[in-house]
Amino acid sequence: MPSHSPVEFSGPLVTPRPFYKQWMLAGNRAVFFDRLVEDWGDFVHYRGLFNFYLINHPSLVKRVLLRTGHEFDKKTIIYNRFRNVFGGGLVVADGDQWKRRRNLLQQVFGPTTVKQFFSVMVDAAAGLADAWETGRRDRSVFDISRDMNRVTLEVAGRALFHDAFGDVSEQISRWTHTINRYSAKPPLPIVRSFWFPSHVNYGVKRVLREFDSFLQSMIDDRRGVGERAAGPDDDLLSILLRTKHEETGQSLSDREIKEEVLGLIIGGHETSSAALTWAWYELHRNPLAQQRLCEEINAVVGDDPLTLDHIPQLNYARMVIDETIRLHPPFWFENRNVAEDVELGGALLKKGSLVAFSRYSLHRHRDFWAEPHRFDPDRFEPGSEENSHSSHAFIPFGGGPRVCIGVHFATLELVVMLCSLVRRYRVVVDESDRHQMAANLTMTPAFGLQVRLEPR
Ligand code: HEM
Repeated sequence: MPSHSPVEFSGPLVTPRPFYKQWMLAGNRAVFFDRLVEDWGDFVHYRGLFNFYLINHPSLVKRVLLRTGHEFDKKTIIYNRFRNVFGGGLVVADGDQWKRRRNLLQQVFGPTTVKQFFSVMVDAAAGLADAWETGRRDRSVFDISRDMNRVTLEVAGRALFHDAFGDVSEQISRWTHTINRYSAKPPLPIVRSFWFPSHVNYGVKRVLREFDSFLQSMIDDRRGVGERAAGPDDDLLSILLRTKHEETGQSLSDREIKEEVLGLIIGGHETSSAALTWAWYELHRNPLAQQRLCEEINAVVGDDPLTLDHIPQLNYARMVIDETIRLHPPFWFENRNVAEDVELGGALLKKGSLVAFSRYSLHRHRDFWAEPHRFDPDRFEPGSEENSHSSHAFIPFGGGPRVCIGVHFATLELVVMLCSLVRRYRVVVDESDRHQMAANLTMTPAFGLQVRLEPR
């Protein structure tokens, strides 16, 4: 751990010449932001096609996250683009609308409530492990990122609708992909406005219509509308339909439920899928970590079926996951609007300014992480200095009031998937393939991850 780690940002704000390396914004944006902090430090006022303040110091990030809803909000050009997709959903809502929806969804996603989805996760992992058997025997090479996408979508489907999406799963994957690509595009004026008759806008509007009628049919099922019988009452959709605001007693309308469910499908499965894909990549490159993980699983679970009681004992698995999402944060980019003139890091930021940060750069900050690019799960050993130093140097799930509502669901899912599959297979990454990172809405390997399987 570097001994000079500053806990508070001590300045200054640096303003490079206008359009500094603007051309890089057309390529990989995480690399561009990384370059800005490398060249100019932790607080940069960028002026170009877009003007923004880039922050890369945990104390600045902490302030912005904790004060969201007061000095900062989500009324940015980037979130406006998301609003075209998610309407008034939790992820884009602000003010009282956000408070109301957060109250309702929080009841559904507490650490105890999500445990009821443990068996859904275990079954999905077991199904995938069985399906892999043929590929292992044939020694075939395949893209594991696709399987991680399928299995996390299956978990989302079973948790939300008691259904693995079955025939519609490919379609949902495609819809999600279209929406993610749309949301990740830079919000250029006019051509990127939602009314502009572009191919991209046409495509995303069609997907939204299809998604809407699919979700409405699921809601109608639960309500027993028309010919159909009422659906199961223990999936997330049924729970959402029943949940009432703790103070007002109000529940969500159909439109609100559709917005939230869309957000949960999109926000919830590609992020977990990206985390798992990167975990396979890192475990291949770090055989000692893989060995320790297997030893832990053998010691804790042995040949027994995985149960909820095992989860808190799988410490190293959790550390592997944390280290994976430190280096490869799935939801890597964040931005906020300055809601009122505010002092930040010794500078005055005017109302309406855009503040942004990249988790990719923050999680590799050399003042807070020793050998920041090295994969080392031991950093997350409970009580280790790096782990305890500054929570805001590590924020894969965000922080403050807008912290990820799916954090308990996602961490349980990641531990279950990783442990269930590592018990049965050694995943060997095809070294000859191109391994490059793509930074769209989520951070993923740009060309998937080609692997083959070996038995344990
Ligand atoms: C590895 C998996 C995941 C990662 C890395 C992740 C990351 C994040 C981050 C960083 C935020 C905060 C954004 C901000 O500051 O504005 C967030 C918010 C959110 N996440 Fe996740 N997420 C994951 C999984 C999930 C899952 C499984 C669900 C749902 C089941 C989910 C639902 C949401 C929702 C609804 C919000 C908005 C919360 C609010 O604004 O009040 N996420 N997520």
